[in-house]
Amino acid sequence: MKKPVSRILVINDEPLVLKEFVKGLNAAAKSMENPFGVVFSGVSSAEDALLAIKADGDIQAAVVDDNLDESGALHLVQNITRFRPELDVYILIAQEQEDEVVDALFSESVDGYFYREERDYRGMYRILHAQLQEKARTPFYDQLKNYVLLAKDAWHTPGHSSGESLRGSPWVSDFYEFMGEHVFDADLSVSVPMLDSLMEPRGVILEAQQIAAKAFGAKRTFFATNGTSTANKVIFQTLLAPGEKLILDRNCHKSIHHAVVLSGAHPIYLDSSVNKKYGIYGPVPKARIYGAIEQHPDAQALILTSCTYDGLRYDLPPIIEAAHEKGIKVIIDEAWYGFARFHPEFRPTALEAGADYATQSTHKVLTAFSQASMIHVNDPTFNAHLFRENFNMHTSTSPQYSLIASLDIGRKQAVMEGYKLLSRTLELARELRAQINSTGVFRVLDLEDLLPPEAAGDNVKLDTTKVTLDISACGYTVEELQQVLFERFNIQVEKTTFNTLTLLLTIGTTRSKVSRLYDALMRLAREGHAPRRIYRTPEIPGFTELRYLPRDAYFCGGEAAALLDEQESVNQDLAGRISADQIVPYPPGIPVLVPGQTITPEIIQYLVALLRSQKTVELHGILYDGYLPCLRILKHEEESALKPA
Ligand SMILES: Cc1ncc(COP(=O)(O)O)c(C=O)c1O
Repeated sequence: MKKPVSRILVINDEPLVLKEFVKGLNAAAKSMENPFGVVFSGVSSAEDALLAIKADGDIQAAVVDDNLDESGALHLVQNITRFRPELDVYILIAQEQEDEVVDALFSESVDGYFYREERDYRGMYRILHAQLQEKARTPFYDQLKNYVLLAKDAWHTPGHSSGESLRGSPWVSDFYEFMGEHVFDADLSVSVPMLDSLMEPRGVILEAQQIAAKAFGAKRTFFATNGTSTANKVIFQTLLAPGEKLILDRNCHKSIHHAVVLSGAHPIYLDSSVNKKYGIYGPVPKARIYGAIEQHPDAQALILTSCTYDGLRYDLPPIIEAAHEKGIKVIIDEAWYGFARFHPEFRPTALEAGADYATQSTHKVLTAFSQASMIHVNDPTFNAHLFRENFNMHTSTSPQYSLIASLDIGRKQAVMEGYKLLSRTLELARELRAQINSTGVFRVLDLEDLLPPEAAGDNVKLDTTKVTLDISACGYTVEELQQVLFERFNIQVEKTTFNTLTLLLTIGTTRSKVSRLYDALMRLAREGHAPRRIYRTPEIPGFTELRYLPRDAYFCGGEAAALLDEQESVNQDLAGRISADQIVPYPPGIPVLVPGQTITPEIIQYLVALLRSQKTVELHGILYDGYLPCLRILKHEEESALKPA
């Protein structure tokens, strides 16, 4: 493995003292064990320190002299922690000022102090190194690796027994070879106590979660091995008793709609803003959120998605403040934003903005295996017992340990080199945007293009690592373009609308990948196809009356009613009936119906238009009676037995 470089910046405005310290500390680092490649360098002003910290992603810590010029050490420390909260910050104290400085800096997140006059370079190095070691620790991964190396005979699950069941098989040993030996060695069971328990963590899982909480700025962090889909359900069941109100964006992920059914919550849906030109659903306009908070001060919780799939990020602080004023808890679905803490360009994170809960699909945007997510908690009245019961209700009693190890590693990487990698990703995103625009045919959409007019004054920001381009001038439909990119150029994109295509840049994006994409788009642009008439996906109808609570409606047996009969004529009798299921056209993935919602002629028309369209839209929730597409609706007698919402 490549050895890292860890630069530690010393900031002191007395040239001789600075020189002496940098020299002394480097000599100590050279003569002592130095696995992190620690080197010290010096700057003589707060301004230079901030410039260095911005430019150099290898800086891991700063040692600030308390005698620093007029702006002072305090100011610098505040700026460093605001800019890169994951950095360690130490103060070099001049003896005579001790109390004053310690008092002023006490409330800041300072990691420690050294007395300048002691000139104890070896002692300083030892402490700085130990702190780096603490941040770089991966307690769960280390324990898993150690256990695998112990090569114990397994008399427990899983049945493949470290891959033994596959290894000699003439039928399936290729799977073992394809996956690699450690996939099987590290697939262990809860019968191994050394590896702790995800259901009741007291050892290495607890430690790994505690280190993650510190890294992400949470009071508590929980590792979820069933994705953010499950994380959202756990939180809902903790915060919401049946019948209690929840304010939510109708455009939120379907796991949230499922969580409404499971918790029995009374949903107050907020329609998102819509960008009709590009078929993109944006944030809920701020005024609409404030209106719902005012109208439903008895709501228990508010959940929003930030950033959205397309990278649109709410101005969270005032929204969270308004909700908190009414005692409403705030949950932010940060499935697409788990990296945000590690670069100032993306902050504030939901937690920094004051959210009580944030759920993150670490696997989507950082280094973790699919399904590995985190739940961060800052709720001052967190009910740990109830949360644990709900967490355990949704968690397999046989969690995949590689997922937990990958969360430990994902956190370590984000802390140690997240800033550096994200700076590179942002740079690549800038380059890619310019290159795509230079094709003259494909055009990258900026915030102004993406943001629906209704949300224009809401201080929404764009995460530029999500790149959405307008493809309407290229001469292909979006499906054709997707296919050409895949088959001719080996490129798989993230998502599409009828005239846009979205690409996701992550810390795993390389310059070669960017050049290949640019090359493909440039070649397609040069082919000079005349623009095609593009089929616009029908616009999703507005929300209609919620007659019964989603849970009540969902658990009715219901009956199947056809949308179209054998002659393809539309069943207008569905109008006024109540859906028992969630019906979600994908894309865009927004439910047109939720359980308990009234079906209207517009909704019937919309669904029929989708079924008849040439575009490959999946319609989740439709059931088929032979060839006939049907909806599950409540029977009349079921309706009479239910209490209206
Ligand atoms: C906004 C949002 N929340 C939650 C999820 C679910 O995340 P996971 O795939 O980790 O279960 C997704 C998945 O696409 C999502 O887009």
